[in-house]
Formats: sequence, C-alpha cells, structure tokens
Amino acid sequence: MGRLAGKTVVLCVTGGIAAYKAADLTSKLRQAGAQVRVLMTQSATQFITPMTFETLSGYRTVVDTFDRDFAWEVEHISLAKAADVFVIAPATANVIAKAAHGIADDMVTTTLLATKAPVVIAPAMNTGMYDAPVTQQNLQTLRARGFHIIDPAAGRLACGDSGRGKLPDTPTLLHGIEQALAPADLAGLRVLVTAGPTQEAMDPVRFLSNHSTGKMGYAIAARAALRGAEVTLVSGPTALDTPHGVQRVAVTSACEMYDAVVSRAPAQHMIVKAAAVGDYRPAQTATEKLKKGDGELTLTLARNPDILATLGQRKQPGQLLCGFAMETQDLLDNAAGKLRRKNCDMLVANSLRDEGAGFGTDTNIVTLLFADGRQEGLPIMPKDELADLILDRLLALRRQA
Ligand code: C5P
Repeated sequence: MGRLAGKTVVLCVTGGIAAYKAADLTSKLRQAGAQVRVLMTQSATQFITPMTFETLSGYRTVVDTFDRDFAWEVEHISLAKAADVFVIAPATANVIAKAAHGIADDMVTTTLLATKAPVVIAPAMNTGMYDAPVTQQNLQTLRARGFHIIDPAAGRLACGDSGRGKLPDTPTLLHGIEQALAPADLAGLRVLVTAGPTQEAMDPVRFLSNHSTGKMGYAIAARAALRGAEVTLVSGPTALDTPHGVQRVAVTSACEMYDAVVSRAPAQHMIVKAAAVGDYRPAQTATEKLKKGDGELTLTLARNPDILATLGQRKQPGQLLCGFAMETQDLLDNAAGKLRRKNCDMLVANSLRDEGAGFGTDTNIVTLLFADGRQEGLPIMPKDELADLILDRLLALRRQA
C-alpha cells in the first residue's frame, strides 16, 4: 500500500481539453487508496461532465459556489480543511493567474485560497499561452510561494501546435502528488542505492544468480527521490520499473556493479547497498555454449570483489554507508561482524527464516545495527514503509555528525 492510502486529495479540474485525462487520475488515485473530492470550474464542464468524476470518485462533484443550494457555500471551507493535498490538473493559464494574485471567484479558487494543504499545479495549455511571459511569471510566483509545479510535457498539442503544454501522463502526476505529500528532507543530497541480484555468466546462455527481486532497494530509491534526493539506482536484472525521478544504471554482473558503484561513490552523501551481489563467478566464461557430457561437470569459481568493503575503505568524510545482511543462522552476530569489517554506519539485517521477510515479499522484518553498537529490532512492515524508516535513521546519523 502506497503513501496515498487514506489521504484526501482535492482535485480541481479546470477548462482545457486535457480535462478528460483527470478522469484517469481520479481513478488511479482512488485505486491507490485515496479519497478524491473533485471540484470543477464551469468551463471544465464543457469538456467533461461532473457525473464522470462522481462515478469515479464516489463523491459529489462540486462545480460552483453560487449556482447551487446554500450548503455548497461552506463546502469550500470544509474541503479546504479536509485536503491532505490540493491538486489542480489540468491547470489553465487563467486559474494559474488567479492563484498567483489571490483572486477567488469560483469554487476552485475560493477553496484554493482557504487551504493550508500542499498545492500541486499541473499546467496544460497551448504552447504560446504557456510560454507567455506573464504565465511564466505567475508560475514563478507560485513556485516561490511553495506550490509544487509539475512541468508540462512537450509534444503535439490538441490545437495542432507542437511544443510544451501537454498534461503529463498519470504516473508522472501521481509522482508529483506523492512528492508534495512527502517531506523534502533529503533535498540537496545525493543517494546511491544498489538493488537486485547479479548474474555471473558460465557461457552465453547460463548464469549463476540468486532469488533477489530488487523490491527493497527499489523502494528505498523511490522514497529517497520522493523526499527530494538526487538518486542513482545501480541495479542488477529485475522485472521492476525504474521509480520516477530516479536515474537507473543497469548492470548484470558483480564486476559491472563494482565499476558502476565505485566510480560514482565519491560524489554520494549516502550509499545504501541493498543488492544481493554474487560472491563468486565462474572462473572462466565459455564463449560458446557448454556441451553436456556423460559425467559430472566441475565448475571453478573465482571470488568477486566485495563492493561494500571497498566503499568502506574509501569512505569520504561525512559519507554514510548502509549495508544489508541476509542470513540463515546467527543473524545478529554475523551482521555485527559485517558492520565492523565493512566499515558501515548502519546495517540492515534480515533472516531468510522469518515468515514475511526476505526475497520477493512486499514486507520485511529487520533489525538495524549501528556503528556505535545500538540495535533496533523492527516489527514486520511493508518494504516502502521500511524504506522511509531506513532513510529516517540515515538522516538522523547525518544530523548527529
Ligand atoms: O558479506 P555479505 O555478502 O553477506 O554482505 C552483504 C552486504 O555486502 C550487502 O550490503 C551487499 O550489497 C554487499 N556486498 C557487496 N559486494 C559483494 C558482496 C556483498 O557489496 N561482493
């Protein structure tokens, strides 16, 4: 369950052709567990009907302050208070101008003026209108006031022109909304995360690997990006989509991961090594497919470099290093040894023997170990919640330093 679950999203739809795309946004927000309360300007109703949003959100769509019965007059105040996040998508040049100058002449703008929730604005309009100096100045005013502006996409617009002004796709809008809900406490920090398994080739068709799916590392990368960090995700082969706002570097083997990580490490404030790196690789990789014979096959394995241990030796001043340890026995003793040997600041230890922990699950059960000897045992929790907690602890270490 993502961070939108249980949140109240007030979604304002204003009058542009992209208004129809707000229907998909409403649906996806609701699927993510949010309550969506839709407000429309009169002109938006020319493009899509209030009933569409009523059906998708399960709530009455509110259109105007003055043309309905009296109860709506106070509705804008209650919605302004109920909002965890306030979204205008699509936002026309007109509503952006009104927002920038405090004009409140309909349901959308009166509610906007009254809310204390974070505000997300997704402009969508003709390129000329978007590029107009007054629109850009208005957006700048809103940015300076702390509004979250989701830049429009470029492409062919409904009016036939090409350029900036398209409403971005739903995943981009959802990311912008989640970002507005998250604290920006990692802004200005560079975070490198490794994730997934490595594959060590025997020949062109076979490899040695492990059961890692990458879920834990991807969750950490996604949450760090939402919290404002500049995130690099060095990932072995996985079936997962690259999280929004994350730069992914795809690697296959431990040696490739070593190169990708070690070359980028000096610039990082935090490095989280969640990847399940293969400790050994076939000493020889056959250039042609190995033929089967009648007897046994003996494979000689060579030791892979230990990336984390190398990072530990070359740690920059102020840099924080977080390793992972998965064990099947003597979890905490082994983990404490690893923390020391690899010069980590924090180590996340989990046992493959625990139900709800380890490879492929959406939950994890871990103990955090710190360089000063502290240990923190955590209950079972979703991997994205644990991702936030790991980042919280690293941030606390950074603030202590
Ligand atoms: O010693 P062990 O492999 O159990 O340590 C696990 C930790 O070390 C993980 O954080 C993993 O990403 C990292 N590691 C590494 N390079 C290796 C093996 C493990 O960075 N070759």
